Amino acid sequence: MQAKIVLLPGDGIGPEVIDAAARVLDHVAARRGHQLTLDSHPIGGAALRMGEPPLPDATRVACVAADAVLLGAVGGPEFDHGPSEKRPEAALLQLRKELGVFANLRPARVWPGLEDGGSIKPEILRGLDMLIVRELTGGLYYGEPRGRTANNQAAFNTMRYSRPEIERIAVVAFESARQRRNLVTSVDKANVLVTSRLWREVVTEVGERYPDVRLEHQLVDSCALLMVSNPQKFDVVVAGNLFGDILSDEAGGVVGSLGLLPSASVGGRGGLFEPVHGSAPDIAGQNIANPVAAIASAAMLLRHALGAAREADAIERAIGETLAAGARTADLQAGTGEPLSCTGMTDAILQRLDGIEI
Ligand code: IPM
Ligand code: MN
Repeated sequence: MQAKIVLLPGDGIGPEVIDAAARVLDHVAARRGHQLTLDSHPIGGAALRMGEPPLPDATRVACVAADAVLLGAVGGPEFDHGPSEKRPEAALLQLRKELGVFANLRPARVWPGLEDGGSIKPEILRGLDMLIVRELTGGLYYGEPRGRTANNQAAFNTMRYSRPEIERIAVVAFESARQRRNLVTSVDKANVLVTSRLWREVVTEVGERYPDVRLEHQLVDSCALLMVSNPQKFDVVVAGNLFGDILSDEAGGVVGSLGLLPSASVGGRGGLFEPVHGSAPDIAGQNIANPVAAIASAAMLLRHALGAAREADAIERAIGETLAAGARTADLQAGTGEPLSCTGMTDAILQRLDGIEI
């Protein structure tokens, strides 16, 4: 296999975790004789610091031409006061739109051995395995008009969803559920928002085409509660852009650390793969970030963009075995013992991978 992969390390802990993921990609490529070219390009604050826009044209062109894009994170406190188009986050929103990746898959499961480390009772966590399907190129993030009033005394965004936008993300959710446990929970705020009432209507219509999949509707506030009180009940959770963003961070807290959550954004060209955790400026540059989310995102890239399911399975198995053997980065550390560094955890995963047949 030959494939062109663009790496966008970006800001904060992005470069550290992308370095870890690139080592794992190189490892599987060497083992299986694949020719993966990994090219890095600046994005976000890293681009702004070079005097470029947050999504430089050369970066955009490289991403569009690539088979897949692996992104670290964008954003940082030094850029928090600029206008919208000068913010690192603008690059990511532009890139998602440009690639047309409307379906963001965010799996969240409890890795064996991690049930006891978190703030939620182990019996509530055991076996937890959900997939958040977040709509990624519409809703409140992109709706027009948005801006400030002329006198600067008010600001506004627009939450807008069209039938086709809801329909296509619902199809992704139902198709995913068919590969899993045949349950879709659709999230909205239909008791208040008109966009949510359309959302519920269209998801219900799509659900009629999937009689083998059970459909439940949850208001986003009660869904947020259920996610901590009874998370095992969820299989596929489908939500609009903003609600999906919020619930996926919550899911990270539930499974023990946001540093464990990978994501795949698909449905358009190639695919965009990124850890859910963001730039974490407070721990950047210290080699203490958890590389698991980025490495698991690389596994999703192999599976979804390159059709390399065996390689993806092997990486996920290596992560599972490494965690089960007790390897812990600082975010997972229950208290005692010296935590592994970002590179230390990556070494441990690579060592496991060495012993796994691909
Ligand atoms: C995410 C992030 C992004 C989002 C930010 C960085 C724009 O929080 O991928 O979850 O809100 O989508
Ligand atoms: Mn987020």
